[in-house]
Amino acid sequence: MPDRSPTPTAPLPLYEFLYWSQLADSQSPTAIGQILARARPFNASNGITGLLVFDGQRFCQHLEGPTVAVEALMGRIAADERHSELRIAYEGPLAERRYRRFDMGYAQAEDPMQMEHLAMLRGDDALQKFLALRPSFDIQS
Ligand SMILES: Cc1cc2nc3c(=O)[nH]c(=O)nc-3n(C[C@H](O)[C@H](O)[C@H](O)COP(=O)(O)O)c2cc1C
Repeated sequence: MPDRSPTPTAPLPLYEFLYWSQLADSQSPTAIGQILARARPFNASNGITGLLVFDGQRFCQHLEGPTVAVEALMGRIAADERHSELRIAYEGPLAERRYRRFDMGYAQAEDPMQMEHLAMLRGDDALQKFLALRPSFDIQS
């Protein structure tokens, strides 16, 4: 009997982005609800996971997923006029996901100084500091 079981497919290569941005002047902080309501189902069906942190003024988002999907999403997010001054602090290939639970976790940062400090970092420094702070964020579902 020939083996008709499907050939296991190799997992898609993963990629991650960490960026900072500012809420656009024209926007109210309530825009976050609309952003998450659309982002979550999209992310869930496209294998995108991560965490969005917002302090009322500044965003910080860590996104991970299949390279092609996460690069395309990063392009759309960068073009989104609801925020400005977007700067990618870190990007690179990823061996294993860092987030499992979320289509897109959301946390409100309590301390604006903490976000201001984070936003000055770049590269691996930025990534390590963000990851170290993760347990201190008040993650809401
Ligand atoms: C701070 C911020 C974070 C966002 N995060 C996501 C996200 O994780 N997933 C997503 O699908 N859209 C996210 N969006 C929305 C996208 O920018 C964009 O509106 C959405 O992908 C729909 O794209 P379109 O308007 O070109 O169709 C985010 C927007 C902002 C301002």
